[in-house]
Amino acid sequence: MRILALESSCDETAAAVVEDGRRVLSSVVASQVAEHRLYGGVVPEIASRRHCEAVVPVTEQALQEAGLALGEVDGIAVTAAPGLVGALLVGVNFAKGLALAARKPLIPVHHLRAHIAANYIASPGLEPPFLCLVVSGGHSHIIRVDGYTRIHVLGRTRDDAAGEAFDKAARAMGMPYPGGIELDRVAEGGDPGAFRLPKPTVDGSPYDFSFSGLKTAVINLLHNAAQKGVQVSIPDLAASYRQAVVDCLTRNFVHAAEATGARKLVLAGGVSANTLLRRRMQELCRQNGWQLFMPQLSLCGDNAAMVGAQAYFEQQAGHFAGMALNARPTMSIEAGF
Ligand code: KG4
Ligand code: ZN
Repeated sequence: MRILALESSCDETAAAVVEDGRRVLSSVVASQVAEHRLYGGVVPEIASRRHCEAVVPVTEQALQEAGLALGEVDGIAVTAAPGLVGALLVGVNFAKGLALAARKPLIPVHHLRAHIAANYIASPGLEPPFLCLVVSGGHSHIIRVDGYTRIHVLGRTRDDAAGEAFDKAARAMGMPYPGGIELDRVAEGGDPGAFRLPKPTVDGSPYDFSFSGLKTAVINLLHNAAQKGVQVSIPDLAASYRQAVVDCLTRNFVHAAEATGARKLVLAGGVSANTLLRRRMQELCRQNGWQLFMPQLSLCGDNAAMVGAQAYFEQQAGHFAGMALNARPTMSIEAGF
């Protein structure tokens, strides 16, 4: 089964062809990040306009690289939630048009389920059940994946997502958008013990996260230093901050793994590209005898191959949409379309 998949939930316009949920025949990503960088973050209106421009050539390229005509694919998949609604609508409407014109089934995909599915491509032997840490620009979840489409959220962030926490702190440290990757790079050359930062817990909810206090602590530290004319070592601050965020993520993930008796731990989402998070998880899994799965860096960020992967399992479960499909800015990862 070959699925043509589209992704337009944020600032990447992507199309891919994926066979049987695991084999990528083509994957094309057009990133708008350079333009949004001018404004320090994603400007939704600009994102929608760029998706409109890119969606046709990106889709044509994906089909061409897969060596297929539209009539030869077996289904059209699209990220329909969650994300920027104007951005999502471009992919959703285009996918509906393709499905109608080519008389193909339309398969709606939840963006975070797609991030998890990046691991089915990266590790062809990976099958549920497993425990997954999904960390992206908009979400931080600890999830029990009981089946490909049977998903149970154990913990979530109460305020900022991990990626957002990285981006906002990086911005305060003078780094360009999206700062997470730059902060990660700069942190490699710093001392993680240089600054003592909070590692907030959420009372009574051992699997939930809270990052806003940590982010505020860094912003206050920088303001105080500026007022006193004290120089702050940015590599040291970046290293200390990254350590604190990763400690919070791994602490709760380990609690959940111990409490649920999980054997397989999986990372997903843009923040799963973080060097320290990957290193710490490798150590923890080695110590505890857990099997660790994480996508290669090219599959951590937004792409359409992961959408095509999840779509295969959604259609196997009979999850299709009609022409009434709409984009949704928010949606629980547990709910089906
Ligand atoms: O999953 P993703 O590509 O988009 C969303 O669905 O949100 O995640 C993007 C987020 C951004 O916040 C970005 O700064 C962060 O992932 N990110 C990183 C790294 N690479 C990307 N955060 C920390 N370390 C990285 N190496
Ligand atoms: Zn994403």
